[in-house]
Amino acid sequence: MSNQLLAQKKGIIFGALDNQSIAWKTAEAVAEAGGSFVLTNAPVALRMGTISELAEKTNSQVISADATNVKELNALVDQSQEILGGKLDFVLHSIGMSVNVRKGKHYTELNYDWLTKGWDISAVSFHKLLQTLYHKNSMAPWGSIVALSYIAAQRTFPNYNDMAENKAYLESIARSFGYFFGKNKKVRVNTISQSPTLTTAGKGVAGLDGFLNYAEKMSPLGNATAEECANYTVSLFSDLTRKVTLQNLYHDGGFSNVGVSQEIIDSLEDNK
Ligand code: NAI
Repeated sequence: MSNQLLAQKKGIIFGALDNQSIAWKTAEAVAEAGGSFVLTNAPVALRMGTISELAEKTNSQVISADATNVKELNALVDQSQEILGGKLDFVLHSIGMSVNVRKGKHYTELNYDWLTKGWDISAVSFHKLLQTLYHKNSMAPWGSIVALSYIAAQRTFPNYNDMAENKAYLESIARSFGYFFGKNKKVRVNTISQSPTLTTAGKGVAGLDGFLNYAEKMSPLGNATAEECANYTVSLFSDLTRKVTLQNLYHDGGFSNVGVSQEIIDSLEDNK
């Protein structure tokens, strides 16, 4: 049964590509909790994905915007405020892409043009979005902004490639811009560091199945699903978490604090 934690709250959700996307599940959970929102994605994703299905289901409008394009972000924020009728209470940045990962370039042989493009999409776009919202004074007091991250920002995962640096940069932007948003606008900015999840972006990482199994065996509560991530995001958008800001919040079944689990020890001993 719905808890209506987000009744009367309005926002923008970036990154719903298909029904596996974390943003898709979040849109469903936010709608269930009584929130209303505009959905947005890059023009190419709107052509390839199935977002209109989600828009219909959640009674929301879709606006195309490339998150690296400041002009398009400005238009998106203006139009969203018009559609929703006022300032925004929540924004989800659920965007990630590495051209080097997509094209199978090894970390020791990176193409720097591709690196720059992936960095712009995965990390700098968050600064562009925050700066747009900040200068337009578009966030309501006690609003909440969340971006999605991964633990490769802190630890080495060989196949995560240049996305590791992008996530470290993203998390740093949340802290740096979050300071000004907190001080001057009373708005929260946080990142959620999510378990590996089977989505289009997730599948781009080589060996994802092994990755998922390993994380599952290491996490006392098991991997967090996209639906569970969506519910956690609802809590961060709600008034129950008004003093949580500048944080990178692990949503990973406990993975981040485990040195080794008994399952991993047993599996290595079995192979002796
Ligand atoms: P997804 O592939 O469904 O979502 C990525 C989204 O980024 C897509 O909707 C895509 O169209 C959008 N995007 C790419 N370029 C864009 C641009 N220029 N402008 C606007 N949007 C653009 O995959 P997923 O997994 O739902 O990814 C969402 C977020 O979660 C990403 O930040 C990802 O790094 C993060 N994450 C994913 C994990 C996983 O294992 N799947 C684990 C931890 C974090």
